[in-house]
Amino acid sequence: MNDPSTRYRIGPGFQLEVFETYEGMSRKAMEIVSGLVRSKPDSLLCLPTGNTPTRTYELLAIDRNEDPALYDRVRILKLDEWAGLSANDEGSCESYLQKHVLVPLGVDEGRYFGFDGNAPDLEAECRRVTGLLDKIGPIDLCLLGIGVNGHLGLNEPAEVLSDTAHVVELSETSRGHAMIASVKDRPRRGLTLGMGDILRARKIVLLISGKEKRIILRRLLETGVTTMLPASFLRLHPDVTALCDRSASGPHVRGNDVGTM
Ligand code: PGA
Repeated sequence: MNDPSTRYRIGPGFQLEVFETYEGMSRKAMEIVSGLVRSKPDSLLCLPTGNTPTRTYELLAIDRNEDPALYDRVRILKLDEWAGLSANDEGSCESYLQKHVLVPLGVDEGRYFGFDGNAPDLEAECRRVTGLLDKIGPIDLCLLGIGVNGHLGLNEPAEVLSDTAHVVELSETSRGHAMIASVKDRPRRGLTLGMGDILRARKIVLLISGKEKRIILRRLLETGVTTMLPASFLRLHPDVTALCDRSASGPHVRGNDVGTM
């Protein structure tokens, strides 16, 4: 299905592409990932979980069916994790990635990296991930969703943001995320790559879908860089593509300095 998009310039390195449908948005994200892996088969992809990227991952699995060896060297890094949850917990980022990415794309253990949400010492676990990223990085492509509060990964709005992997106190908004709605002891903390880790990625693709993201997308387009809206830091990166669907953009894309391309 063809879903023609409109492209807008948000800043020097930041463009927004609006699709009529979630499917169109997801297809474009899949094409960007697939295209990158074709040009660099051992790409390091940092991947998020949540509702938004699920269709993109399904389309990547279909892409692999058509070209079975395509993802044989790709490396995957988990963006974040809920503290206290492991692969056995339905709501964990680990179980989501296993189900939607690692198994469908045939990514073996040696090519997968990420936080252990159940590590006995969470601070030490973050230091381990920081050291790991020093070795395996930089991230070639960081795919992101956005929280309704503007968080990226679990970098929550705050007076100060962190550069590298760290433990965070979750906002009530994040604690209300559908992923952990049925977890018995809903996590109070999370582990996440830092804003610097994200901004050091060579390329960033931000996915924004659904009408519940309309307000935060509007804020992203209308405000400058502020720690109270972590996603606004994407304005500082030289290569960001935001992909959204019409339900997130609303009928008109507005912002202080937004122009069509
Ligand atoms: P969502 O989550 O894709 O489920 O909306 C994104 C987020 O909260 O970061």
